[in-house]
Amino acid sequence: MDERNAGIIAVGSAAPEKVLTNADLEKIVDTTDEWIRTMTGIRERRMAADDEAASDFALKAARLALERAGLGPTAIDLIIVATITGDVIIPATASIVQDALGAKCPAFDLSAGCSGWVYGLAIANGFIVSGMYERVLVIGVDLLTKITNWTDRSTCVLFGDGAGAGIVAPVEPGMGLLAFELGSDGSGGPSLNIPAGGSRTPVTHANLDAHANKIFMEGREVFKFAVKIQGEATERVLASLGMTPADVDLVVPHQANMRIIDSAVNRLGLPPEKFFVNLDRYGNTSAASIPLALDEAIQAGKIKRGDIVVTVGFGAGLTWAAGVMKWVY
Ligand code: ACO
Repeated sequence: MDERNAGIIAVGSAAPEKVLTNADLEKIVDTTDEWIRTMTGIRERRMAADDEAASDFALKAARLALERAGLGPTAIDLIIVATITGDVIIPATASIVQDALGAKCPAFDLSAGCSGWVYGLAIANGFIVSGMYERVLVIGVDLLTKITNWTDRSTCVLFGDGAGAGIVAPVEPGMGLLAFELGSDGSGGPSLNIPAGGSRTPVTHANLDAHANKIFMEGREVFKFAVKIQGEATERVLASLGMTPADVDLVVPHQANMRIIDSAVNRLGLPPEKFFVNLDRYGNTSAASIPLALDEAIQAGKIKRGDIVVTVGFGAGLTWAAGVMKWVY
C-alpha cells in the first residue's frame, strides 16, 4: 500500500456571545483587573448561558469547518470530541454531535484536558494513515465556566468557554501532519482535578457544599510543569523531524497564561510574533483553546500553504501534546 499522509483541510470555531470582563470578576471575588492582566494576560473571556451546553458550540464549530471544506456531514467517517465538560456524563458528546450534524459514523469522547485536541489530531492521523478512514472530524470543546468554583479567586479568573473543530483527511506526500509527541505524567493528576463526581467520590450534598465537583488547581505546580513541558515537547517533536525552532513559521500554543507562553518564546529563542495569542479575549478554554486560536490565526491570514505550524498543549492528567504540521491550504 502506498504511504498515506493526513492533514487538516479545514478549521472552524465558535464561542458564546456573553463576555465576562475582569471588571465583572472584581464584583464576584476579591481580585483586580490589574492582577489578572499582569499575572495571566487575560482581559476577558466568553461565558455560555445557563441553557447552553458543550455540544451547542461543538456543532457550530463543526458546521463551519464542514462548510469551509465543502463537505456534507455524511462525508465524515469518525467524530472525536476532546472535552472534560461534555453535555452529560453519558452519552458521549461526540454521539450527541453526530446525531445533530446528521453524520452516519462512529463517535467518541477523549479526555486529556487541555491537550485533548492535539491528542485527537494524532488519533485521526493514525486512522487515516492506516487506511481505515478518509475524513475525521476532531472537535475540542470546553465550557469551563460550568465547572468553575466561583468562590476560588485563584482559578475562577482563568477560565472561559469555546469550541474549535478541524477536519483531517488524506493530503499530498510531505504535507499535513508530520509528527506528534503525546505525553502523560499521572503523578501530577492531583494538582489539577475535579475531586468529586466520579466513581472514586460520587457527588454528595457535603462535597457539593465544599465545591468538590468543581475544578481544583494548584496553580504553581501546573505553572512549573507547563513552563518546562511546553518548550521541551516542542523541541523534541521538531528534533524528531530533524528540525529546530528556527524552522517554525507559527506556534499555536495552549492559551493558558501569557507568562507560560513568554517562557516558551524565550526558551525556543523565537520572536514573539511567531506565537499566536488570543488568550487576552478568551482566557483558558481547555480543549478548545488550540483550535480556537488556530482558526483565528488562519482567518487573520497568519498561516499560508507550506508553513510549518506547531501546536502544543498541556493540561489535566497531567498531559501534554505537541504536533508539527506543514500547512496544506
Ligand atoms: N486576584 C488577586 N490575587 C490573587 C488572585 C486573584 N485572582 N489569585 C491568587 N491571588 C493571590 C494569592 O492569594 C497569592 O497571595 P499571597 O501571596 O498573599 O498568598 C498571590 O496572589 C500569588 O498567588 P499564586 O497562586 O502563588 O500565584 P502564581 O504566580 O502561581 O499565579 C496563576 C497564579 C496565574 C494561577 C498561575 O499559577 C498559573 O497560571 N498557573 C497555571 C494555570 C494553568 O495554566 N493551567 C493550565 C491547565 S488548565 C486545564 O487543564 C483545565
